[in-house]
Amino acid sequence: DEAARQAAFDAAVAADERIEPRDWMPDAYRASLVRQMAQHAHSEIIGMQPEANWITRAPSLRRKAILMAKVQDEAGHGLYLYSAAETLGTSREELLDKLHAGRQRYSSIFNYPTLTWADVGAIGWLVDGAAITNQVPLCRCSYGPYARAMVRICKEESFHQRQGYELLLALSRGTPAQHAMAQDAVDRWWWPSLMMFGPPDEESGHSAQSMAWKIKRHSNDELRRRFIEISGPQADALGLTLPTGEIDWDEFKEVLKGNGPCNEQRIAQRRRAHEEGAWVRDAAVAYAAKHGEGKPS
Ligand code: ACO
Repeated sequence: DEAARQAAFDAAVAADERIEPRDWMPDAYRASLVRQMAQHAHSEIIGMQPEANWITRAPSLRRKAILMAKVQDEAGHGLYLYSAAETLGTSREELLDKLHAGRQRYSSIFNYPTLTWADVGAIGWLVDGAAITNQVPLCRCSYGPYARAMVRICKEESFHQRQGYELLLALSRGTPAQHAMAQDAVDRWWWPSLMMFGPPDEESGHSAQSMAWKIKRHSNDELRRRFIEISGPQADALGLTLPTGEIDWDEFKEVLKGNGPCNEQRIAQRRRAHEEGAWVRDAAVAYAAKHGEGKPS
């Protein structure tokens, strides 16, 4: 009965066992996972936009090839995460519809513009660095498919972080104008990167329950602190400085409400890409039907 199933679930979570798709789970656990995993998947694909903005203007063939590979990786991460979310009974189509209708979120960070080439470096170093800090503990998340998706994603994110660091190092050691461009990018991306970890613990409505379920392993502030500690020595090695002061939480709230610098642009571009890709999905469905493979996910 329900009580026995709940007890078995609680015992599995307490013993650090993985919850798998066919296991019984509380409805609220399933709903919270769908919420977080969908938000995560959406972030990966919306996150392709700010960097793709620089593919045609990369300063060398080598940089262009690296950036294209990176942006493709983000699409791949989105696919792993939508697939992982499907194991909870939600289709990719349904999640994308919710994103396009503004009913599900994506990370605040992707609502900022990429103004110079150095932003590609700052995104790799800081944004992907923050993403790794947040996601490495998710490899131990209680939900099996999410945890396993995170293992590969984190490996690829480490490569992304290093390419950003290496790009910034090259600029920092370049001409005074290049150094200034790198510093300006870091000045602009630092605060939004700290906001990626979510609101302060006392305002984080989901944290207590998510930590009890072992979806989250650390609080927002704990991970934010860890990231700040790691970043200091890295900034020194880069010859760049990190801004000092306080996080502007009003800015975070505005971005979440849809009033960030690029919110409208990002969602409009996403909807357009989806509409323009309709013929590809139709062709895939027709192909699968012809070859008796059923409807592709
Ligand atoms: N951007 C947008 N929304 C956010 C952000 C953010 N940076 N941080 C928190 N929120 C939202 C939450 O989704 C929640 O809103 P909701 O109730 O409407 O869903 C609200 O703010 C309150 O936050 P919390 O209670 O702290 O939410 P939660 O416990 O889910 O913690 C966190 C937020 C840390 C982002 C968590 O969801 C998480 O670890 N997600 C997985 C990682 C991820 O999504 N990364 C995406 C960016 S990295 C990348 O794509 C490269």
